[in-house]
Amino acid sequence: MLDLPYTFELNAPGFVPTRYDNHIKRTLTSMKGQYHDISAYEAMLAEGDALLYEVYELARPHESGEVLHGISIVHPGKVGDEYYMTKGHFHTVLETAEIYVCLAGQGVMVMETPEGDWAVEALTPGRVLYVPPRWAHRSVNTGAADLITFFAYPGHAGHDYGTIEQQGFRKLMVERDGLPEIVDNPRWGKGG
Ligand SMILES: [Fe+2]
Repeated sequence: MLDLPYTFELNAPGFVPTRYDNHIKRTLTSMKGQYHDISAYEAMLAEGDALLYEVYELARPHESGEVLHGISIVHPGKVGDEYYMTKGHFHTVLETAEIYVCLAGQGVMVMETPEGDWAVEALTPGRVLYVPPRWAHRSVNTGAADLITFFAYPGHAGHDYGTIEQQGFRKLMVERDGLPEIVDNPRWGKGG
């Protein structure tokens, strides 16, 4: 197969790529067990399986030497007092990094390492975030509009969602008195 250079555009306000291969939609059911307020989660789910975030991917081989890339759109909203967020993951190959460029919205990236370090960095339009190797990452929309980011990471990185699904991240982003706040995850370190 002849592999040719390609281009696409990310146009405001929606930033949906003018070319993409996969459109992934994550709803409330795919986030079961991730939000700390279980009764708020169940009550919301009873109203319908809300769309929380979407990813537009350009398909490239999952091989070292390739760069996987696309757009992530986290919609605004909360489950209880906890903001809409992505599942979050480590890379299966831990020693692989990722770059995010925030295009629109207000949010944060919640990150942690297996060694116990954690970090939260603000995502605002025009801001570039470098996630070094070993850092699990989850985007959280703390604003009132879509949080839109462009991401790029090595083709062989892979996704390990399971580690996060077991107990979540060490830190949660919740709303307190109308403002985002970082709090400890009560579920963390207590096992499943
Ligand atoms: Fe990643």
